[in-house]
Amino acid sequence: MNCFTIFALFAQSFSITVATSLNITSIAGVGNHSEIQCWQMETPFTISTDAGTNGVARLDLSDADNISYLVLPSEYNGGLHNAPAVQWVAFISGLAHITLPDDPTASAYVIGGAFGLIFAADTADVSKQGHITRYPGVIETVALQIPTKNNFIPQHAVLHSGACTASEVAGIHSFASQ
Ligand SMILES: *[C@@H]1O[C@H](CO)[C@@H](O)[C@H](O)[C@H]1NC(C)=O
Ligand SMILES: *[C@@H]1O[C@H](CO)[C@@H](O)[C@H](O)[C@H]1NC(C)=O
Ligand SMILES: *[C@@H]1O[C@H](CO)[C@@H](O)[C@H](O)[C@H]1NC(C)=O
Repeated sequence: MNCFTIFALFAQSFSITVATSLNITSIAGVGNHSEIQCWQMETPFTISTDAGTNGVARLDLSDADNISYLVLPSEYNGGLHNAPAVQWVAFISGLAHITLPDDPTASAYVIGGAFGLIFAADTADVSKQGHITRYPGVIETVALQIPTKNNFIPQHAVLHSGACTASEVAGIHSFASQ
């Protein structure tokens, strides 16, 4: 192992410890099935220079087609469905529970709030059945549904199957303590 290799390994482990990328739970179409995955977005956070947010962490997600505000009653059952379009869904309050029709062990609870952003890409062309979403909260769930322009799927790495864990998303707190 030469010096350069050691440096490269050091640089690699250093970059992994710094929370510069957002990880989000996603529903992907894999082999005509839906799968819950934890994605690490390839585009890193930058520092905003915009008026009003100057100096804070900012991540550009994608262009968007349109945006809808949804109010889902407590106990609403969205049933088995495909993502109607490739889209971001930002749960801003309440609780969503995502399951899969053919894998009883797969489950993701998404709590509305700072960690409520997911990506849904299991459209009918890539997943035969889709996924099931229920809203088991005691109050309504409010969500923003944001289809990307031209069904664009942002570059990402699949960290693992299953939802991102609390420790995989908590890195955003490090921005606030800087
Ligand atoms: C929003 O965009 C999606 C995806 O392109 C499209 O299916 C839907 O019809 C659009 N909704 C409106 C209100 O334009
Ligand atoms: C997914 O499965 C359905 C039903 O079996 C089939 O009609 C369709 O062609 C399949 N799609 C892909 C991309 O394999
Ligand atoms: C995303 O996951 C990576 C690898 O587990 C981690 O280093 C990083 O801090 C996470 N990002 C956030 C914002 O938590």
